[in-house]
Amino acid sequence: MEPRTSVIEKRLKNIDRIIAVASGKGGVGKSMVASCLALHLSQKGYQVGLLDLDLYGPSSHIILGVKNEFPTEEKGIIPPKVHGISFMSIVYFTEEKPAPFRGVDISNIILELLAITQWGSLDFLIIDMPPGIGDETLDVIRYMKTSEFLVATTPSKVAMGAVSKLLNILIELKKPVLGVIENMTMTDSSFIEQEVKRLQVRYLGKIHFDEILEESIGDPDRLSKTQAMKDLKVILQKIKL
Ligand SMILES: Nc1ncnc2c1ncn2[C@@H]1O[C@H](COP(=O)(O)OP(=O)(O)O)[C@@H](O)[C@H]1O
Ligand SMILES: [Mg+2]
Repeated sequence: MEPRTSVIEKRLKNIDRIIAVASGKGGVGKSMVASCLALHLSQKGYQVGLLDLDLYGPSSHIILGVKNEFPTEEKGIIPPKVHGISFMSIVYFTEEKPAPFRGVDISNIILELLAITQWGSLDFLIIDMPPGIGDETLDVIRYMKTSEFLVATTPSKVAMGAVSKLLNILIELKKPVLGVIENMTMTDSSFIEQEVKRLQVRYLGKIHFDEILEESIGDPDRLSKTQAMKDLKVILQKIKL
């Protein structure tokens, strides 16, 4: 057995719920949803961690406006608190190193990060997942045994094609799927809703395309007041978050 797996289990044992924000696709709003979900739960008074595992384009640190906060070392690595959230990102380990990494390195970096991070006790750990359904996604599914999945898509048929593949894998592996969020909608098309329901997964609703979201990136106070955040909160109520 991979020796780090037991270490990972120990590291995660004081975390009540692990919610992985995933999609088969990049650019659909995973990082936005993950960061806003973490902010929302933190504002409700929960102890929250956010882990950005998107090696190809880590971005939670940009959305949350992480600037001079770094992890500290003490029998592992302690995530810094950013706007009340314990924040850990692959960016701390990969910055300025050339990407893309080779598959084996990606798995190693993710395992290492899971094995060394000391979250302490948390109510929620939110994971900003890598795009696609490659090894790194499967690793997280495998090593974070208790994780639940919140899946994001855009209204695009192309995005939904990739998302369907991920949903089928999650269903096959009997992983809990909280539902699918349709992000960046501009019409009231019901295409995605129908596709999601056809897979017998819960369709959670739409987050409208928000023209001023971009201006709020890096500023959690402004982010909290955006229409996108309001739409997300309506969705989260449905799953009691
Ligand atoms: N509802 C929305 N309205 C407008 N822009 C959005 C919305 N959701 C995400 N974006 C923007 O789309 C881009 C991709 O989002 P991101 O969260 O980085 O996607 P992913 O993590 O899936 O690659 C970002 O520039 C983000 O600010
Ligand atoms: Mg991202």
